[in-house]
This record gives sequence, C-alpha cells and structure tokens, in this order.
Amino acid sequence: MNVVILGAPGSGKGTQAVRLAKKWNLRHISTGDLLREAVAQKTPLGKQVEGIMAKGELVPDEVVLKLTQEAISDPAIGSEFDGWILDGFPRTEAQAVGLEDVLSTMREIVDAVIVLEVDPDIVADRMVKRADGRDDDKPETIRKRLEVYNEATLPILDLYEQRYDVYTVDGSNTIEQVTEEIIGVVEA
Ligand code: AP5
Repeated sequence: MNVVILGAPGSGKGTQAVRLAKKWNLRHISTGDLLREAVAQKTPLGKQVEGIMAKGELVPDEVVLKLTQEAISDPAIGSEFDGWILDGFPRTEAQAVGLEDVLSTMREIVDAVIVLEVDPDIVADRMVKRADGRDDDKPETIRKRLEVYNEATLPILDLYEQRYDVYTVDGSNTIEQVTEEIIGVVEA
C-alpha cells in the first residue's frame, strides 16, 4: 500500500507516519528528515537547503522531487516493505504532479491520502514545546511555515480529492486515538 500523509506543520504527520509504517510494514519516507540529515552531514545538498529551512520556506521542487524519486524507486521497497508512506511530500502542486509522473512510470498508484486536521494554535504550541528542539521551531519561523502550508500545500487537497481516496482525520486527539482512527477509516 502506498500512502501520502498531509497536514500542517506540527499536525503529527511524522508521529503518525512512524506508527502507520510499523502497522502496515511501509517504508517511511520523510523529506524533512532526509533534508535535515543532509544539513547535519554538511553535504552539498545540506549546504544548499540549510538557510531555506531555517527561514521556514520551501526547498525548490526539483530538489525534493529528486530525493523522493530516489527513495521510492529504491529496490529495498520491493523486497522488505509492502509499500511506502510519504510524510512532508508533496507540498506544492508541482510536486504533486511530479509524483504522479514518477508513479506512472513505475506503474504504481497512491492508495490512500490521509489528511490530519488540527487547529493552528494547537500545532504552534506543539512545535514550540517539541522535546528535541528544531532550528525551525522558533515562533516567527513557525508562523512562516503555517503560511507556506496554507498557500502552497492546501491547494493540493482539491487535486487529491478528485483522484484518490482521501481520509480526513481529527489530529487534535491523543496520538493513540489518531492512529486508531486512521487505521479504522483506511481499513474499513
Ligand atoms: P518537515 O520536517 O516536513 O516539517 P513540517 O511539515 O513543518 O512538520 P513537522 O515535522 O514540524 O510536523 P509533523 O506534522 O511531522 O508533526 P510531528 O509528528 O513532528 O519539513 C521541514 C522543512 O523542510 C520545511 O519547512 C521545508 O523547508 C523543508 N521541506 C520538507 N519537505 C519539503 C518539500 N516536500 N518541499 C519543500 N521543502 C520541504 O509532531 C510535532 C510535535 O507534536 C512533536 O513534538 C510530537 O511529539 C507532538 N505530537 C504529535 N502528535 C500529537 C498529538 N496527537 N498530541 C499531542 N502532541 C502530538
């Protein structure tokens, strides 16, 4: 099964993606984690994106498309996993279209799109309190990330509602309740 999980920054995409990946034996592909890893390793990619991420802006589409394409076409998926869950991608219409192109070449589809809905005040509070502390969790950067989500990412939902099975879940419940609800609606 191939899954895309969408939601505002701090809505719980990463948290739920890890739990769902375990439940459904999926490979968890987080563009944010891949980019942070590149920054930590000081690779050329990391140096290119560090400043963009620190400002809460989006990394160029072609950069994340390439990263995602490499990850989903990794042969390990075929043997070890029963699909993938994309967390933090796509984030723009161009990325959504790019994903469609990659999948059609691979003769694959997105089986389920999960959307986490959480009040903006709750997500901002979660990010400020995040235990491991991230460079982009400062109040002004959080505001920018939420703005970018509303402008660039929300429009993808219209496209996805026309094409895929989209499941919208209340992400403001406890972590366990959200996981249960997602599994319930997707497996129904
Ligand atoms: P990315 O890493 O994707 O960050 P994000 O979308 O801003 O989201 P977060 O990781 O903050 O939140 P989340 O929804 O995963 O929630 P989480 O589970 O962590 O992207 C970072 C940056 O990378 C972007 O700004 C951009 O620069 C770049 N980037 C990444 N992908 C890109 C792309 N495709 N295109 C262009 N640029 C890209 O939870 C948040 C906190 O809340 C945690 O502390 C968690 O423990 C807690 N929590 C989770 N669920 C609950 C719950 N139900 N109740 C209480 N607390 C909860």
